[in-house]
Amino acid sequence: MRLASIRLILAFVCGVAPGLLAADRVFTPFASAKPVLDKAGDQLPAQLRNPTEAKWSAWSRQRDKAIRARLQQGDLDSMVNLLFYGTSFTKQPRIRIESFSEASRAGILRARVDDLIAGMRNPGDNERLTFLNGLLRSQGIDPSAPGDSGLFIYNNVMRVIQEMQTLSKRGEEAKRLTKPDGTPDEAALFSWRAGLLRDRGVSLDTSIFPNFSIEQALRDLKNRGVLREGEVARVAVIGPGLDFSDKNEAFSYDYYPQQTLQPFALYDSLLRLGLARANVVSMSIFDISSRVIDHIQRARGRARMGESYVLQLPRGVADPWPADLTAYWRSLGDRVGTEVAPIRPPGIFQLINGGQGLETRAVRIRPDVVLTCEPVDLNIVLERINLNEADKFDLIVGTNIFIYYDAFERSLALENAGAILKRGGLLLTNDQLPEVPAGSMRQAGVIDVQYDHDAVGWYRKR
Ligand SMILES: C[S@@+](CC[C@H](N)C(=O)[O-])C[C@H]1O[C@@H](n2cnc3c(N)ncnc32)[C@H](O)[C@@H]1O
Repeated sequence: MRLASIRLILAFVCGVAPGLLAADRVFTPFASAKPVLDKAGDQLPAQLRNPTEAKWSAWSRQRDKAIRARLQQGDLDSMVNLLFYGTSFTKQPRIRIESFSEASRAGILRARVDDLIAGMRNPGDNERLTFLNGLLRSQGIDPSAPGDSGLFIYNNVMRVIQEMQTLSKRGEEAKRLTKPDGTPDEAALFSWRAGLLRDRGVSLDTSIFPNFSIEQALRDLKNRGVLREGEVARVAVIGPGLDFSDKNEAFSYDYYPQQTLQPFALYDSLLRLGLARANVVSMSIFDISSRVIDHIQRARGRARMGESYVLQLPRGVADPWPADLTAYWRSLGDRVGTEVAPIRPPGIFQLINGGQGLETRAVRIRPDVVLTCEPVDLNIVLERINLNEADKFDLIVGTNIFIYYDAFERSLALENAGAILKRGGLLLTNDQLPEVPAGSMRQAGVIDVQYDHDAVGWYRKR
């Protein structure tokens, strides 16, 4: 029996999650990257022309550092999101991107910046402000020096506004991707949005929507007989994210503790659809963000003491959701936890949602479910885990992650996912990943999930 299998058995027998996959993490070997390098053509980075093992080894290690460095820019983007939409540090109205200039003229931006700096100086038990205090310090800015902090925040605001304008121009292209009957062409959008954020910082934003898309896709795959009852046991989520303060005003909240949703939502969907049996699921979580990894480690620590993990699930009522999304929202978590009283949202939400406010739910996720989640630091673009066939995954889910990478890097990621999937295993994602002829993965289909122009591609390990 291979070492990895023995570790897994020991871990489950001892009642602790393995936490050991990380030991088998490696950079993608040159031989495995070669089919992608051979196919890349003029997308190949200059340092990898006429590739050799030595060039690959140097490039992949240097690129890994560069990718991880993008997290800091994503954190600064989150700071701007919190500045615009946060309600935990200020009484000022939220700032909508469309009315940025008016908010600036009316002094709201200035007042929010002042409140944010004051909050960072004295964060109390506000974990977001504590984080931002550290973030500014890591950039050489002392939050107790309001002038420097203000300038630093304004510069980031201007950068984010500029990036959003560029993205919104690109968004106009997406509107033209329609079928002959004029309805959105989701399959075309699936390919179009790939790599859209390749020049932006990597953010941790997360919400309920991709999880709805994944449940829809899983249901479709079950109906078509691609996935069968009880078939899924070894599961991985790549990049589950952490809900800090979303870039989208409609679901940007900071009135509850930071939370991650995808691993629990996926576990819940698998049980609801009968694709997995309770108590036999293992959920590996791969991420490059130490914030995500540490967050889940801490939740596991509390779960070992019998504490559950509470998910807050607010939704704005003013902008109605389709019936099946609302039904999903109502049931989310019922297979992995129990309903508890939600945290009451601040009064401002009554005003900003046309007086209709937020509808809220909260779910207490059982400790045994939290303990199935094993976080591992892994850069899926450049790294993989050495696993024997029995330890490989039946299913991998990665949403809103590959959008940060160009086609070459997405192909590398696809092959790394293939390396840890069982033969016949599936990868589900909402970003198109280019397959390569000599590679291990094939795109088997794209499922239109009929919400928000999202589509889920499914890839099968050959
Ligand atoms: C925008 S969030 C998406 C969160 C969640 N999947 C969702 O759709 O709501 C992107 C997540 O992917 C992670 N991530 C980005 N690049 C990664 C990489 N190369 N390898 C592993 N995780 C990565 C980020 O740290 C973050 O947790």
